[in-house]
Amino acid sequence: MARFIDEQKRTHMCGELRAGDVGREVVLFGWVARRRDLGGCVFIDLRDREGVAQVIFDATWRPAAPAPDDGQQIAAASALASEMRREWVIGVRGLVVHRGENVNPDLPTGEIELRALEAAVFNRAETPPFSLGDQVDASDELRLEHRYLDLRRPPLQHVLRLRHEINQATRHYLAEQGCLELETPMMVKYTPGGARNFLVPSRLSPGKFYALAESPQLFKQLFMVAGFDRYFQIVKCFRDEDLRLDRQPEFTQIDIELSFCTEQDVFRIVEGLMFRIFEAAGAADLRALYPAGQFPRMSFADSLRRYGNDKPDLRFGLELVDLTDIVIEHGGGAVPPLAALAAKFRDGTYRREHPAEVVKALVIPASAGLSRKQLEQLEAGLREIKGFVGLGRAKLGDDGSWTGSAFAKQVTDGLRAALGDACRAGPGDIICFQFGPPAVVDPALAKLRLDLGRRLGLVPEHGSGGKWQFLWVVGPPLFERDPDSGRLVAAHHAFTRPRDEHLSWLESDPDRVLCYRYDLVLNGFEIGGGSIRVHDPAVQRRIFAALGIGEDEASEKFGFLLRALRSGAPPHGGIAIGMDRLAMLVAEAQSLRDVIPFPKTNQGVDLMSGAPVPVAAEQLAELRIRSAAGERETGG
Ligand code: AMO
Repeated sequence: MARFIDEQKRTHMCGELRAGDVGREVVLFGWVARRRDLGGCVFIDLRDREGVAQVIFDATWRPAAPAPDDGQQIAAASALASEMRREWVIGVRGLVVHRGENVNPDLPTGEIELRALEAAVFNRAETPPFSLGDQVDASDELRLEHRYLDLRRPPLQHVLRLRHEINQATRHYLAEQGCLELETPMMVKYTPGGARNFLVPSRLSPGKFYALAESPQLFKQLFMVAGFDRYFQIVKCFRDEDLRLDRQPEFTQIDIELSFCTEQDVFRIVEGLMFRIFEAAGAADLRALYPAGQFPRMSFADSLRRYGNDKPDLRFGLELVDLTDIVIEHGGGAVPPLAALAAKFRDGTYRREHPAEVVKALVIPASAGLSRKQLEQLEAGLREIKGFVGLGRAKLGDDGSWTGSAFAKQVTDGLRAALGDACRAGPGDIICFQFGPPAVVDPALAKLRLDLGRRLGLVPEHGSGGKWQFLWVVGPPLFERDPDSGRLVAAHHAFTRPRDEHLSWLESDPDRVLCYRYDLVLNGFEIGGGSIRVHDPAVQRRIFAALGIGEDEASEKFGFLLRALRSGAPPHGGIAIGMDRLAMLVAEAQSLRDVIPFPKTNQGVDLMSGAPVPVAAEQLAELRIRSAAGERETGG
């Protein structure tokens, strides 16, 4: 008897057999996905990466032209098959035959089956704790604990293959665009600001720490200084942030940096990349959706004004309406809090560019037919927004009157009519108001808009619904104000280039300075972000000055980059695409966990290995670290 693997080599993958293979003798290796014993005849669905083939073990069957020891081997294989169980790993030599009447149209291999001539068991398997089919009824925890089993399931096999396609398409495309695939260190110097870093203690320098790179940002800029001209990397990044469905502590970026480029150059290269990736993934024909080859653009300010955030989901309308000016014009229309806002405007304490308070609204169309209870549910969903106190509501009557509003009795006819006009609201429509600091009003209405979009079936709960709305959100402010101290801080990082026409405001009116920063948004998710960088040391000094960072502090924090920028830096810029988020959207998955091979939970735990774990006291001692968690908790 020939030995499988050593002598009996695999001839085909299970999933690739078709009617054209009928009559061939083949060798398959794989896992027992299903086994049915029909008394003397055992049917096995044999699974490998490419799919499933049905194998029949029948001790009484013989091929048309049997070889001398066929009878003995078929009988031995059949005896073995009656022992086989789910997830055993086996090898089979057999003859491909047509299924005749019993074709299974749901299976790509459904026209054929394999009549076993010989078999071997490579390994037995414990009974899996959950079924490994398309559908799974086990909890997320159980599946993550046994991720290697979960990964055998077809949906996850599909998703990891999709990642492969995305990576391959990315490599080919970016290399064609003249980008070199270069690597950057993971263990880097801790730099304050930006995302929170994971720290790695150094044994050789006790008491000192590396940081795990939150992105290759500074290093890719150094590649430009070093003259590599165009770079890319598919790279792991690490951020110790609060985790969500679209955030993992360890994630992958498609990182790009270009010398001598403008924003447009970055956009063109990324648009081309998305076209290529969607084509490779078979997700959608972006060329048909974007015939000009370009994605639309929206200013950051417009995005906030119209949608309440900087990553609008443009698959549906329901735009917000800014009512602040109308309220001011009407002196607050006798509604006390609105009148207070108007008074601030009159006495000059209200700044239009950076208003402390705004009034905005979202109209729920009468056709939505929402009940009071449903409205209350929508409002309850907003309570998670910090600072949210409640949603003002007014339902319009046939004559434009308001019902269901706390302010219905107070508001002047003039303001009521003007608000109705501005909102283009008609009888039965409900105007939902938010009044207060933009940092509360915008996120509250943005969430209401999304929740409403789903409630009204304008977008599905998860997934694309067959719509792919890309958008570049461009030109955000260079600085933000720290909410506690009111001090200026870099909105992204201190190396983002201010818009040329705003340079003169760096000292006189820094809040107004916009920058060459851009985010790529897809269906309401930020899938990428980048900027054109500062390459002029004089501008860099002015930005640091605006941020209150002196020369010494700057050189202590960013010394090597600043020295590099002074030593012949080309104008440059770039972007990073969140590869996992892109894969999640393309795969129509609900969470990053569904597209990352070995993900962490929202607590940052790897349920399979148990990481993070305490380490032995001796190991900590070697690193000169004492755990505040106490000796007893540091086992290991
Ligand atoms: P940024 O911080 O915007 O830019 O990150 C780029 C993209 O990475 C994805 N992303 C994440 N994905 C999963 N889990 C996370 N925790 C996570 N954090 C970010 C997002 C995001 O748009 N160095 C700059 C890029 C540049 O300026 O060139 C950077 O990292 O999709």
